[in-house]
Amino acid sequence: MKTQIQKKRILTGDRPTGRLHLGHYIGSLQNRVRLQHEYETYILVADVQALTDNFEHPENVERNVRQVVIDYLGVGIDPSISTIVIQSQVPEICELTIYYMNLVTLARAQKNPTVKDEVKQKGFGSRIPLGFLAYPISQAADITIFQADLVPVGDDQLPMIEQTREIVERFNSLYGETLTKPEALLGQFPRLPGTDGGAKMGKSLGNVIDLSETPDVLRKKVMNMYTDPTRIHPTDPGHIEGNPVFVYHDAFNSDKGLVEDLKARYHAGKVGDVEIKERLFEALDALLGPIRERRKHLQNEPGYVSRVMKEGTEKGRDLAVQTIKMVRRALRIAEYY
Ligand code: TRP
Repeated sequence: MKTQIQKKRILTGDRPTGRLHLGHYIGSLQNRVRLQHEYETYILVADVQALTDNFEHPENVERNVRQVVIDYLGVGIDPSISTIVIQSQVPEICELTIYYMNLVTLARAQKNPTVKDEVKQKGFGSRIPLGFLAYPISQAADITIFQADLVPVGDDQLPMIEQTREIVERFNSLYGETLTKPEALLGQFPRLPGTDGGAKMGKSLGNVIDLSETPDVLRKKVMNMYTDPTRIHPTDPGHIEGNPVFVYHDAFNSDKGLVEDLKARYHAGKVGDVEIKERLFEALDALLGPIRERRKHLQNEPGYVSRVMKEGTEKGRDLAVQTIKMVRRALRIAEYY
């Protein structure tokens, strides 16, 4: 159990279904880089969860595990203070998930709003795989196996924390105080739209900018960004509100004076789309340039990246084993012989 003097513990994670992108950066990575100095940080590469919607193409997951770790290190997650854990290598999470299944009804699982959205989006109809429906239960196991106090997330993940808290309450009331009840730590920036202006970002939607983007592709993606469809000529007054180019300027351009100037000129019909995009490209390239460099360096150090994964996972597993021992004791799954 944790003592008073210990730092609070954070657990976050990502599905390794692609490279991490600007949405991850603004929604959580940036926050984690800052928080790792204040809290004991565990970051889970959720490859088992990634299989819930990639089980027909496991190679999609396999190929991205290492790349996601390189993304973490590239943005400044420091493995000497943060622990990076590969989910599949901690089987205690699966065991805990099985115990939690008893505590969640089918109706409750179907009520999770994020799952509901995804079920609709994926077009499962009535053929929802059980594994998919149960992934929030397994996520509750992710969070509680590491006895996390806080989970920094974007708003789409709030229903997962809610469901985790319910499971913890139910477990503790049935079997005695065993599990830590986590709280969500919501990021400050509202959700980033896709480059096409869509509310949902995704690799399959082709509307994301990866952290590992080359300058050429970055430029192309910025130049193709959706802007203000009502504006035909650069002299037409343009809309700032909801215009993804300005949402991205607000999120990523550190020159706030320049952004205000561009907004004023855009609104007055005194600047063209090409210029506001050119300035956005420069701002993004200034952010991604150093990340790209660090990534390149890390790609050439496979031994180092492997060691980070191995050492982090071993440390995470030790903690998971401690938790599962307490859980088994609480469940009277004891030593029978
Ligand atoms: N579901 C999260 C996502 O899609 C990833 C995730 C897996 C996670 N396990 C977690 C997030 C535990 C926070 C805590 O982004």
